Amino acid sequence: MATEGELRNGLKARVFGSKIYTFDTIDSTNNCARVLAGCWAPEGTVVFAEQQTAGKGRLGRSWFANPRENLTFSIILRPMGAAETLNVLPLCVGVALAEAIERSTGLEVVCKWPNDILIDGKKAAGILIEGSLRESTIDFVVVGIGLNVNQQTFAPEIASKATSLALAAGREFDRVRIFQDILSSLERHYRRVRQKGFDEIVPLWMSKSRMVGSRIAVSQNGTVLTGTVKGLTSHGELLLDHDGEERAFLAGDVTILEHAFMSH
Ligand code: BTN
Repeated sequence: MATEGELRNGLKARVFGSKIYTFDTIDSTNNCARVLAGCWAPEGTVVFAEQQTAGKGRLGRSWFANPRENLTFSIILRPMGAAETLNVLPLCVGVALAEAIERSTGLEVVCKWPNDILIDGKKAAGILIEGSLRESTIDFVVVGIGLNVNQQTFAPEIASKATSLALAAGREFDRVRIFQDILSSLERHYRRVRQKGFDEIVPLWMSKSRMVGSRIAVSQNGTVLTGTVKGLTSHGELLLDHDGEERAFLAGDVTILEHAFMSH
């Protein structure tokens, strides 16, 4: 099991990871981080686990990852500001995660709205952001990251949609180094967003996504709408052209029906 000392040794991030709680087995690192955040754990505190017994995905789904082969961890953030920040924060985390993966593996990474990381069209990482509000401002945010690193096989029901860095690259990676690269990248982007606002994040995210011009289906609360992606608003909403009518989505599940780069 990776120890706090190993995870911190050589870490370039200064605030993120200044305290790391490590577990061999835990229900969910997000659950643990939420409890710690409620007990005033400082910004940048990390909860790292080798195995989750109840790993959580978006939209009430589960997150499965083989023990000791992948990365499953959560970071506590305390961004000042209005609840709306929570809509753009996933884009900041997505860009940071994509950059860290590209830099440490050389693989090409694509961001899929709202917060999936794809390699070769398959999901390699997911991000689960849970916020706690006090009145309408943010009290704390827990950013949960699940990254498939060295896992070689997946359950039959997700095998066609999931991948890992090792599967994509044909070689295994040092999980600790990738964890450290992610923390550094996230700290850099998060600091920039705190200093300059979210204006730069949307174009950065768009440059790592291939969604504009793609035909997609968005399902939200049981209804499905198809259309062509026009882009993102400055608030991180997905803009869809649905039969000539513009629709904006803040949440939902996206299926890509036809990639823009395939139809050209
Ligand atoms: C998704 O794509 O649905 C989001 C998956 C997020 C999984 C990570 S693993 C670490 C953290 N703890 C959890 O319970 N979930 C997130």
